[in-house]
Amino acid sequence: MGKNLTQKILSSHLVSGDLNNGNEIAIRIDQTLTQDATGTMAYLQFEAMNLSRVQTECSVSYIDHNTLQSGFENADDHAFLQSAAARFGAYFSRPGNGICHQVHLERFAKPGKTLLGSDSHTPTAGGMGMLAMGAGGLDVAVAMGGGAFYLPTPKVLRVWLTGQLSQWVSAKDIILEILRTLTVKGGVGKIIEYAGPGVQTLTVPERSTITNMGAELGATSSIFPSDEQTQRFLEAQGRGEDYVPLAADSDAVYDEEIKIDLSLLVPLIAQPHSPDNVVPVSELSSTAVQQVAIGSCTNSSYQDLMRVSQILKGKRVHPNVSLVISPGSRQVLSMLASNGSLTDLLDSGARLLESTCGPCIGMGQSPVSKGVSVRTFNRNFLGRSGTQDASVFLASPEVAAACALTGFITDPRTLEQSTMVEFPKQFRIDDSMILPPGDPDTPIRRGPNIQPLPIAPALNDSLDLPVILKLGNNITTDDIMPAGSKILPLRSNIPAIAEFVFHKIDPDFASKAKAQKQSIIVAGHNYGQGSSREHAALAPMYLGLRVVLAQSFARIHRANLINFGILPLTFVDEKDLDCLNPGMVLHITDLRQAIQTPEPFAITVDNASNPIMVKHDLTERQAKILLAGGLLNSTKQSV
Ligand code: F3S
Repeated sequence: MGKNLTQKILSSHLVSGDLNNGNEIAIRIDQTLTQDATGTMAYLQFEAMNLSRVQTECSVSYIDHNTLQSGFENADDHAFLQSAAARFGAYFSRPGNGICHQVHLERFAKPGKTLLGSDSHTPTAGGMGMLAMGAGGLDVAVAMGGGAFYLPTPKVLRVWLTGQLSQWVSAKDIILEILRTLTVKGGVGKIIEYAGPGVQTLTVPERSTITNMGAELGATSSIFPSDEQTQRFLEAQGRGEDYVPLAADSDAVYDEEIKIDLSLLVPLIAQPHSPDNVVPVSELSSTAVQQVAIGSCTNSSYQDLMRVSQILKGKRVHPNVSLVISPGSRQVLSMLASNGSLTDLLDSGARLLESTCGPCIGMGQSPVSKGVSVRTFNRNFLGRSGTQDASVFLASPEVAAACALTGFITDPRTLEQSTMVEFPKQFRIDDSMILPPGDPDTPIRRGPNIQPLPIAPALNDSLDLPVILKLGNNITTDDIMPAGSKILPLRSNIPAIAEFVFHKIDPDFASKAKAQKQSIIVAGHNYGQGSSREHAALAPMYLGLRVVLAQSFARIHRANLINFGILPLTFVDEKDLDCLNPGMVLHITDLRQAIQTPEPFAITVDNASNPIMVKHDLTERQAKILLAGGLLNSTKQSV
């Protein structure tokens, strides 16, 4: 039986396990990327493993998220990351060089390789035929150290493309159509593989717009084959030698399939507040627009911005609209400048922003109160723009440019002129803002915002743990470790950020936890739902949290708890939660043995004669991590 593309890359990188749906496998990682919001922690974690140099083929540290905060914290983080990259053998992409995913595609991505990034849109590089996945910073740090990445064997969903896009319909409309069909949960546990004759009509940047927003489907990754389009892109980037052809076997088998005829698609738009709330643009034509934002890792390639400049050339942005443009990279910006298109954009009244994430991460350009903002980005969750009551719509650059001209949501098919963007034979290549790996003796620069990483203690055999907090259902990672402009700059300073743990629920939590030295939290169902925020495990661990006993856990947070040495336990009888209260002390004995056997075990409550029964559901690997005191310690022992 033939292999699909996913199976080919997974099997050529397999370290352990076998490729049966759901089985945990371990794969070798060829490349890693980090960005500044997650990178400081990843490099502190790498440093804590006492390794001298990264072991991957290439690791890149990008600065693209927080380039505009006031205060010294950002600058401290950037200086730390620059010196850490030099010392540990990683490339460093300086602030202003571009958004990590766009620059990675241009300068580093290679077909057939694996990429692990501490950013959820890492699958952007799937447009190059790479198996690219997002993960927590600690997983990326382990991969930088040569450790394997563990994942459940994904299902593979084939999207079979036929036909060709019509004028004014773009790659963004393809992924919006898939989101409309599959919803934001449709990709969970799956890799989405694109195939069919329609594939060859799409350039690599167009393919990457599609794989980028596979993250919004909840997919593990998305991937295109590597073909003539891939070769054309790599040659135009001066990297023709990185090309290898790659495709699924003709008799490959897939778990699921959907089919899309590209010629039937129309311009689409995602309405507030979810990327799958998709309708044809033409249905919203009476909606007034106050802001248009073009950019982000989804839609800020050279082709995207050239189309925008052609639409705006010789015209004026509507007086009621603020149009902001962030080119995806310095390469894109310099090409627009050298061919005169930048002048066309500026003459139209567009405002030029840095080549960074900018408004996508809420760094400036929040819309007016109750405003409508049309963005070429990938997410439109309530409040993400920084304006709680704004309505954010997601659309292609062509739709966004049309809206900027008319002041209303506008189907670009109503515009008179057409656009014609030639794929460049040669991109403008200048890697002077990518610093190569430096001297292993480079001193690490540590301003006051860079604090040593706390390491969990190995799991004790016997624990007396006071219940420090009793919580209900659906506690989010944001409840545990709030974010926001005051807290985010402290991301590389765990003692400082830990002061905010559970701040919204109990403002005195941090001081109470420190006074107890070791503690346990008891909670209802779905503990730790929401983002993959590692600090929601790391900061409580720093405060002495050793065990969370809940009715159930959210999957990623449970993995983060284990990674940071906190034992997740569940009740055998859920009702036992009712009899536990803050202040009680739970006694656990023979714990090291208990987590290495599958049977439930007993916990004594306040020395009462009736213990409660709990279970752990740990794999052998997870038990080993906990015994060592977390993934960092266990990696130090094994790498
Ligand atoms: Fe940056 Fe937004 Fe992409 S924050 S990495 S441009 S999703």
